[in-house]
Amino acid sequence: MFKNTVIVGAQWGDEGKGKIIDILSERADYIVRYQGGSNAGHTVVVNGKEYIFHLIPSGILHKGKICCIGNGVTVDPASLIKEIHGLAAAGIKAENRLKISPLAHLIFPYHKTLDELRELKRTNQIGTTRRGIGPCYADKVNRCGIRMLDLLNPGVFKEKLKDNLREKNEIFKKVYNHKGLDFSRLYREYLEFGKFLEPYVCNIVALLNNAVKADKRILFEGAQGTFLDIDFGTYPFVTSSSATSGGSCIGSGVSPIHIHNVVGVAKAYTTRVGEGPFPTEFDPQFGKFIRDKGGEYGATTGRPRRCGWFDLVMMKESVLLNGISEVALTKLDILHGLKEIKIAVAYKYKNSTFEEFPRDAEVLSKAKPVYKTLPGWDQPAEKITSYKQLPKNARAYISFLENSLEAKISILSIGSARDETLFL
Ligand code: IMO
Ligand code: MG
Repeated sequence: MFKNTVIVGAQWGDEGKGKIIDILSERADYIVRYQGGSNAGHTVVVNGKEYIFHLIPSGILHKGKICCIGNGVTVDPASLIKEIHGLAAAGIKAENRLKISPLAHLIFPYHKTLDELRELKRTNQIGTTRRGIGPCYADKVNRCGIRMLDLLNPGVFKEKLKDNLREKNEIFKKVYNHKGLDFSRLYREYLEFGKFLEPYVCNIVALLNNAVKADKRILFEGAQGTFLDIDFGTYPFVTSSSATSGGSCIGSGVSPIHIHNVVGVAKAYTTRVGEGPFPTEFDPQFGKFIRDKGGEYGATTGRPRRCGWFDLVMMKESVLLNGISEVALTKLDILHGLKEIKIAVAYKYKNSTFEEFPRDAEVLSKAKPVYKTLPGWDQPAEKITSYKQLPKNARAYISFLENSLEAKISILSIGSARDETLFL
């Protein structure tokens, strides 16, 4: 039986979560985003048409499914409304099916400006998406954030926005020599957003817990990836939310006792966008070759993604942190035509060998991977409809990963379309 499942990115994001969610949504009743914001870019291809989601769960493409944006998400209302309009233009109605938590924090233009200005001032830039994510979560923890429910109460909203702008504008002027933002325009604009979004606002905690009682099936859609998690990622080169599976409870109001399964999505190689350590990163020339072959450009910012070999040191840590029992391995189709394929099984730094993911920034940035090398395969994976049809060496690669990870590779993606998927 399909149970309540969390889909989590096992690497640095962009693992292909959008496609896997889309496929598994068919068997779910509710699809819930629980963290992140419009820094995410989830691409789904249906009948040759590409959809990119930043906030709305990818499950919206399936008729009748209820899609929730949980309290753990930071919502940029302008971006969300644009997405709703975009769906409507494609003939997909979100009304009645999209539900937004009143407790979700909102992104304001000052968050984006701060994101930008802070990056410029840092010695070591993070390479954020500039979507205001970090500053918005910082306000949440700092207890000055503005939430969805505040937008629906003009008096409360006015006071909170005034408070925020007073402080932010001082910071803008004194720290960044920036002119700051105007209250009235922002206030009016956000009240309009509130009016538009009000029908979507819903008590997600009650909705989902009633769903649990009624034995409905819930799919939790993670954004970003394990190594971008604020606690367990490659800090400080991370995002500002709990991208690991535990975030699904905090970010939705569903208790851990109601979650039964965690599917980790991993690419058959590794990519990363933005700055930070990346032990198995390819040299620039080979990196460009795989980037072009795999179309590795960010769905949100269009930035070229850094590419590297599959990293078992990372993935094993990911299996532990998330409780991954099943892996969806994506983009296997990109790896054909290589003479050999490498997999990092440990790192070496100075005189030490690391089989567990090291947390020391110096080790992580300077360590050299210890590789296991497997023979490559020539035949493209396209048009393959069963595991048996895969080239022998591709199967050997998958078996090696599966045995090393102690998690079952249950889904294999060999292209962006729904039918380019093998269930093992
Ligand atoms: P999806 O859901 C890949 C990265 C940024 C940057 C760091 C911090 O599509 O997998 P932020 O704007 O979040 O403060 O940036 O995190 N990043 C992602 N990388 N996929 C994503 O989302 C990402 N969201 C954020 O590039 O390095
Ligand atoms: Mg993405």
